Amino acid sequence: MSKRTASTSEFLPEARLLEVAWEVCNQVGGIYTVIRTKVPAAMRYWGAGRYCLVGPYLHNNIAAELEPMDDVQDIFGQAAAALKKRGYHVQYAEWLVTGKPRVVLLNPSSVDEKAINVVKYLLWKNHGIHIPPDNPLVNQAVAFGFLTKLFVDELVRLGGSEGKLLAHFHEWMAGLPILDIKREGLPVKTIFTTHATQLGRHLAINSPMFYAHLPFFNREEEAKKFGIEAEATIEYACAQSSDFFTTVSEVTARECKHLLKRKPDAVLPNGLNIERFETLYEFQNLHSKYKEQIHRFVMGHFFPAYAFDLDKTMYFFTSGRFEFKNKGFDLTVEALAHLNEQLKKEQADLTVVMFFVSKRNFYSIQPEVLHSRAVLDEIRQTCDAIQRQIGKRLFHESTMRDDHHLPNLNDFVDEYWKLRYRRTVQSWQTNKLPLLVTHRLVDEQQDEILNILAEKKLRNEKEDRVKIVYHPDFITSSNPLFGMDYIEFVRGCNLGIFPSYYEPWGYTPLECMACGIPSVTSDLSGFGDYLLHHFPDHEKNGMYVVERGKRSVDWSAKQLAGFLHKFLQQGLKERIMQRNNVENYSAAFDWENLIQPYNAVYEKAIAMFPGDQVVAMQEPVVG
Ligand code: UDP
Ligand code: GLC
Repeated sequence: MSKRTASTSEFLPEARLLEVAWEVCNQVGGIYTVIRTKVPAAMRYWGAGRYCLVGPYLHNNIAAELEPMDDVQDIFGQAAAALKKRGYHVQYAEWLVTGKPRVVLLNPSSVDEKAINVVKYLLWKNHGIHIPPDNPLVNQAVAFGFLTKLFVDELVRLGGSEGKLLAHFHEWMAGLPILDIKREGLPVKTIFTTHATQLGRHLAINSPMFYAHLPFFNREEEAKKFGIEAEATIEYACAQSSDFFTTVSEVTARECKHLLKRKPDAVLPNGLNIERFETLYEFQNLHSKYKEQIHRFVMGHFFPAYAFDLDKTMYFFTSGRFEFKNKGFDLTVEALAHLNEQLKKEQADLTVVMFFVSKRNFYSIQPEVLHSRAVLDEIRQTCDAIQRQIGKRLFHESTMRDDHHLPNLNDFVDEYWKLRYRRTVQSWQTNKLPLLVTHRLVDEQQDEILNILAEKKLRNEKEDRVKIVYHPDFITSSNPLFGMDYIEFVRGCNLGIFPSYYEPWGYTPLECMACGIPSVTSDLSGFGDYLLHHFPDHEKNGMYVVERGKRSVDWSAKQLAGFLHKFLQQGLKERIMQRNNVENYSAAFDWENLIQPYNAVYEKAIAMFPGDQVVAMQEPVVG
């Protein structure tokens, strides 16, 4: 039986929703995950012709994910066509992801410089927002905002007096149209969701007592200090001017109250499109399958220098945008150093391989890493060829012999294969230690992860029980080192570690949960805070929350090391049980449930249109 959310068209046939975000068809971080995973639930509620995503057209390679809808003359298609006629680069299409939403992509570079300067002047004149001349990202946001506003104008014109248009904007990059919608009194209700505050992100990195000082920061002064006046002012104006202001967690709601001077009208926690399996062993099998693939990488990376028992190896990882302190990378390394010392002292016979997955500027993959990967493949092919040759000849020989003795298998292998085998295995071994980082970084000297690894003496020595692989790029299926996509990689690991210092929500531990993989988060992240308030037995079930709010870094690092050590003490059976328990929680984060707070805001927004009788949406109905 499939779940079905009541559709708005049953109640308000003329209401429509635009959802606008810089991360529509453009992955930067977690906002992309919000938009993309929410689509099926949103589509069920609104229906195809009433829901349209709006994002920037930035790269031509996005075309592979789009099915053009130039011929479709619904209201979105007509509005897009009107903009095209005015010379702007606009694409109306179906986005080929689960749920197949309609999207309008607007190319910011199709707005010429002269027009941008006029828009900037008007922003200053009408809203007191000063946009500097030389900030490319802000310029793009201004151009994108301008095009989105033109699109909204067309929809208003085409919708006539009956049209009830809601426009939901995510983050400052998308929010600028809110200001003129309000100023011009357009019949559009606006919702602004912030997924962090610009000031908060910067202050958290730079101010040691960020949370304690929250009520006392001077917004303008601090923004100036970090050179983010335009971003911070746009965000502030959007929060102030929207009909509804929302954010993703209670943690960020507190921050908004102080830094954006508006308490959010609603908190909209982030969900996932949870795919539950009929039987538990199905996702356990996926874990084994992908762990096998990670083994292959690990053999290629470490075994030329020294080998260890893969049956006694645990894979830990952390991932996300590169915000060293905010993502808790510093704390993670510190805890790993404690863990390494403890395991060495105990002479433990297990190995932990810890992956750091984040995006940094790099030139290329390290040639040594590619080389050992290629040699490993060569060894495998040679072994397969020898195995085939022996198998075939042994079978043939067995049918002819009458002495029932096993022949000398060496005789069955051609000299060619013997030589090739010897040469390959020889070129495999090295005296060098396994590399810490898989890519040639642009700024290796200044890299904070490499520096702290050096400081904490995590060097991939043979004796180290904790080994490090720093992969400074996201993992995708086209990646030559793993040959798997990110979620497959997550499934193959044993534990995700995300003890963030600043994290409005934090998708990465939630994604672990959905894959049945235990993880660590922190009480300062929106997700960790949610666990603490809604799931008192989270720790027993493999979702660890590190205390950071009222603790020193040293204290939290020791607590984290304790969690990791405890995790390693579990036997195989306990780990399997723990994975089942973790996965059981994920239903609570299915968008089928978490779409309800969104719908509640939309109902309130629709109720603001004059003369409307809104029938409240129900809990999802099963039908
Ligand atoms: N992610 C990814 N590939 C990777 C590593 C991370 O696609 O190799 C995604 C991950 O699935 C998650 C997002 O990056 O959805 C990070 O979102 P989160 O909310 O945790 O943090 P943000 O980067 O937005 O601060
Ligand atoms: C932001 C936050 C992250 C959150 C994501 C989605 O990028 O940094 O914590 O999960 O938005 O809301």
